Amino acid sequence: MTKELLGELELNRIYQCDCIEGMRLLPDDSIDLVVTDPPYLMNYRSNRRVKNEKFKHIANDVDSHDLIKKYLAECYRILKNDTAIYVFCSWHNVDFFKTEFERHFKLKNIIVWNKNNHGSGDLKGAYAPKHEFVLFGHKGRSILREKRMPDVIDCDKVPSLKLTHPTEKPIELLSKFIKNSSDEGDTVFDGFAGTGSTLVASAKLNRNFISFEIEPEYVRIANQRLENVRDELAERKLTEGTDVE
Ligand SMILES: C[S@@+](CC[C@H](N)C(=O)[O-])C[C@H]1O[C@@H](n2cnc3c(N)ncnc32)[C@H](O)[C@@H]1O
Repeated sequence: MTKELLGELELNRIYQCDCIEGMRLLPDDSIDLVVTDPPYLMNYRSNRRVKNEKFKHIANDVDSHDLIKKYLAECYRILKNDTAIYVFCSWHNVDFFKTEFERHFKLKNIIVWNKNNHGSGDLKGAYAPKHEFVLFGHKGRSILREKRMPDVIDCDKVPSLKLTHPTEKPIELLSKFIKNSSDEGDTVFDGFAGTGSTLVASAKLNRNFISFEIEPEYVRIANQRLENVRDELAERKLTEGTDVE
């Protein structure tokens, strides 16, 4: 089978490396959509019980402001004109993310993801956190493909015991963004793959993807999840084939 290339890199692969180094190998104006979930810059560590043993701290989650600055500039360079970008961020650093985002992109919404399940934090002194932000914007102008929806989106978070990554994002939510801002056959980019949720959603929706993740263990899990999707799709094709008279 011939591998499809994007610049020097293969499509539909996750590379284990620093995203800035990896992105330098991607051509200008070559990506159709960015859906990405960078480190929160707050030394995040989940205390909840998860499928694997308790997670370690997320790489580059403390003081990587320069990494985020370079990353958003590179996202702008690799995106084609008239495309969209979605960037998850916590309210704690929304001022920094918004400023950097707006250096490059036209900010269209700060989407509120209502997680339908509240976190912990200061149990006596603060309201129970229940949302996350997603900065949504354009390079040029991108038209939404689906019926217009509100900028507050209800979607259950992944149950703690099923998490494969401490900040894993639900496929259902990512799929809404991908369907709304890309077409089948397009290429979706995520430079902070974690265990590959953006890539799993893209593969299920017949989009190509290209991605980077610095932690080898997360790359391994992401590849396993992608393998499962490929098996599911192949099985579905087979069943559909046998249904035809
Ligand atoms: C917020 S998590 C993404 C989780 C992902 N959305 C998921 O559902 O699994 C950010 C990820 O970025 C990775 N990371 C941190 N610095 C990186 C870098 N310089 N290059 C590539 N990945 C990096 C971390 O290891 C972490 O897995």
